[in-house]
Amino acid sequence: MSEKVNLSYCGNEYQLPVIKGSENELGIDISKFRAESKMITLDTGFGNTGSCQSSITFLNGEEGILRYRGYPIEQLSESASFEEVSFLLLKGELPNKEELQRFKKLIGEYNSIPEGLIESIKTFPKDAHPMGVLSSCLSMMPAYYPEYIKKTDLCDEEMVQNIAQIMGQMKSILSTFYRHSKGEANVSSDSSLGFAADFLHMLLSKDGKDVPEEVSKAFDTLLVLHADHEQNCSASAVRVVGSSKVNLFATVSAGVNALWGPIHGGANQAVLEMLEAIQQDGGDYEKYILKAKDKNDPFRLMGFGHRVYKKFDPRARIIKKACDTILEKLGVEDPLLDIAKGLEKVALEDPYFVDRQLYPNVDFYSGIIYRALGIPTNMFTCMFALGRAPGWMAQWQEMRRDPSFKISRPRQIYTGRKARNFVDIESR
Ligand code: CMC
Repeated sequence: MSEKVNLSYCGNEYQLPVIKGSENELGIDISKFRAESKMITLDTGFGNTGSCQSSITFLNGEEGILRYRGYPIEQLSESASFEEVSFLLLKGELPNKEELQRFKKLIGEYNSIPEGLIESIKTFPKDAHPMGVLSSCLSMMPAYYPEYIKKTDLCDEEMVQNIAQIMGQMKSILSTFYRHSKGEANVSSDSSLGFAADFLHMLLSKDGKDVPEEVSKAFDTLLVLHADHEQNCSASAVRVVGSSKVNLFATVSAGVNALWGPIHGGANQAVLEMLEAIQQDGGDYEKYILKAKDKNDPFRLMGFGHRVYKKFDPRARIIKKACDTILEKLGVEDPLLDIAKGLEKVALEDPYFVDRQLYPNVDFYSGIIYRALGIPTNMFTCMFALGRAPGWMAQWQEMRRDPSFKISRPRQIYTGRKARNFVDIESR
C-alpha cells in the first residue's frame, strides 16, 4: 500500500500520497489536493516545490552531490567529452564508439547557419550583449525552419535531430557575432576537431592558428560541468515555455534569457567584474566582505551562495582545482585569482557566510579560467549557455515524452482589490 500524509483543516481530513525517488527523496503529491480541498499550496520562489519527476540529474545539496544519469560529476569531468555527456543526458546511457560517432556527425551537419541569419547578426551593434543576440537568433530560427512551427509533436528521431541542430548552430551564432563585434571575417567550422575545440576554432583562431590543445580540453571540461543542473531557473523556464508546445528554438531562447540574469548564469560575468572592481579599488577585498554583509547595501558577493547547495558546490571544487592547473600550464599569472582566493578564505571563516551556508558556486572561479583561455568577459554567460543547452533540451525531451505531460500553469493567492464598479474617466 502506498504511503500517505494526513492533513486536516476545519474538520476535514485529506490524505496525500507520498512519492519516493530512486535516491529515497520524498515528496507529497498535491496534484488532486485543490480539487478535494479548494486550497492551493504556496511556495514563493519554488524553494520547496517539485515541478516534475525526472531521471536525468541527481543533486543532493546537503551532501554536495551532483550526478548525471547516475554518474558522479567528478568522474564525468575527468573522463568524458562534452559530446559523450550530452548523449548521456539525452539518451540515458553513455554512447559506444559508433553511437558517439553518429551523434558527432549529426551535430556536424549543422555547422553553419542560414545566410539571412548571418546578415541579421551583422546588423547588431558591435557592443550588443551576446546573450541578447543569442536568444534573438534562436527566436529567429523558426523563420528559416518553419517545419518546426507546423509540427508541434516530434517523434524521438526528430527530437534528437532538432537538439543536435541547436547544439551545432549555437556555435555558429556565437562565433559569427563575436567575429562581427571584432570586425573580423567568419571562420568556418571544422567538425573533425570535436565540439569544444571546433567552437574555440570558430571563435578565437587567428591566421589559421588554433588555441593550444590544453585550452580546448579545459574548455571541454567546463562545458561538461555546466551541462545540466536539474530544475534550476533556466531549466524551469525551458520546461514552462516548452510546455506550451512552442518550437524548441523558442523554448531554448527562453532558457538563454533566464540564464542571462546576474543571480543565475550571468553571475560568471558579474564575478569577474566584481574582482576587477576590487582590484581597481586597491585590492582590499575585506571591504567588499563588509559590503556584502551590510543589509543596507545591495551589494552581494557574486559567485557565492546557492539555493540548493548548503555545504559546497561540487562543480566549484573541480573548477577551483582546474583553475590552478590551467593557469600554471598556460603560464598565466592572474592577480584576480589571488583576490578570489582571498575573498573565499575570509568568507569561509566569517560567521555571516558560515551561518547562511554561503559557499563559492560554479560561477566563482569559472570566469578566471575563461579569461585565461582568451574568452572576453561579456561572452562568459554564453559559454554557460552553450554547455547547458543539452541539459535544457534533455529536460524538454523528457517532459514532452512523459505520458502525463500537461501545460505548466501555476496558481496564485490573489491579494488585490475586491470587486468594484468601473468609474468613468471624467469622475476619477
Ligand atoms: N552575498 C551576500 N549575502 C548573500 C549572498 C551573497 N552572495 N547570497 C545570499 N545571501 C544572504 C541573503 O542576503 C540572505 O540573508 P538573510 O537571511 O539575512 O536575509 C541569505 O543569504 C539567504 O539568501 P537568499 O537570497 O534568500 O537565498 P536564495 O536561495 O534565494 O538565493 C542565490 C540563492 C544564488 C540567488 C544567492 O545566493 C545570490 O544572489 N548569490 C549571488 C549570485 C550568484 O552567484 N549566482 C549564481 C548561482 S549558482 C549558478 C547558477 O544558478 O547559475
